[in-house]
Amino acid sequence: MNVHVDALARQHQLDEATSTFAHDVIEGLSRPQKQLSPKYFYDAAGSALFEQITLLPEYYPTRTELGILRDRGAAIAARIPNDAAIIEFGAGATTKVRALLQACHTHAYVPVDISGDFLHAQAAELRRDLPGLAVYPVTADFTAPFELPDAVAAMPKVGFFPGSTLGNFEPHEACAFLRSARQILGAGSELLIGIDLEKDDRVLAAAYNDSAGVTARFNLNILVRINRELGGDFDLSAFKHRAIFNRELHRIEMHLISRTSQTVRILGHNFAFRTGETIHTENSYKYSLARFGALALGSGWTPLQCWTDAEGMFSVHVLKASD
Ligand code: AVJ
Repeated sequence: MNVHVDALARQHQLDEATSTFAHDVIEGLSRPQKQLSPKYFYDAAGSALFEQITLLPEYYPTRTELGILRDRGAAIAARIPNDAAIIEFGAGATTKVRALLQACHTHAYVPVDISGDFLHAQAAELRRDLPGLAVYPVTADFTAPFELPDAVAAMPKVGFFPGSTLGNFEPHEACAFLRSARQILGAGSELLIGIDLEKDDRVLAAAYNDSAGVTARFNLNILVRINRELGGDFDLSAFKHRAIFNRELHRIEMHLISRTSQTVRILGHNFAFRTGETIHTENSYKYSLARFGALALGSGWTPLQCWTDAEGMFSVHVLKASD
């Protein structure tokens, strides 16, 4: 099959976002190691499943980071300029930024996210609950350069990038993101960033192979999306979820494993799977404090201070833009 993806996309009248999705899926499934980007997990169903993941007993990152933000609020606030504008890269649940806003008496908040609908719902919720807070949502892909609102131009700027989302980036992409954030936030800015730490294999594996099967549904949801949005014919019962910790590469890898020998058809393309062959759907890199500090220093940021929970599971860092 050698039909051009763009032509097919036009023929199926896909909008721009969907044809990018189509292109990425066909390209990723054509590789020797089949792969799909984790950014495609987050449609409405996937975002709801991720919120469920954050509540699982095995998934320690969310509650541990929130604990650090709450317990260390005063120390974090002391490291941040007064009346700073908080610029959050990605807009998820507002729980973490609420903890931060409460600790540091900030009056301006700029959430940045590609999903405008989600962003405006989140902004409305915060404006209702915190009347003293000015919220300036920016709809943009936060991995690329974007303009900050004029209203915050004269304020000191503090970036906020919680959740160890940086872990989804390959090391060179993590460096590029940090450099780009440095450009966007400007000279004198700071960055408050949450980073998950390398630890016991069993603890890590359990966090991504929960006993209730929520992470499995989250992972399989990407196939549900391909079926619905691209007319794929994935049989969901013919794939199983597995997450493994790759210690050499310091990362959790999520895969979807084919239970049988099968062929899947998407937009006129056939993809053959051997029994046991996998689609690699996500990397979640884990850092040591030293490795993250070195990455920050090499990417335009000077580490000022970091905090962990008592068990050393998760870390929160304050970085200052290097001159
Ligand atoms: C949102 C990328 C931080 O890597 O822990 C959770 C995503 N994947 N369970 C993570 C995720 C499976 C999460 N991040």
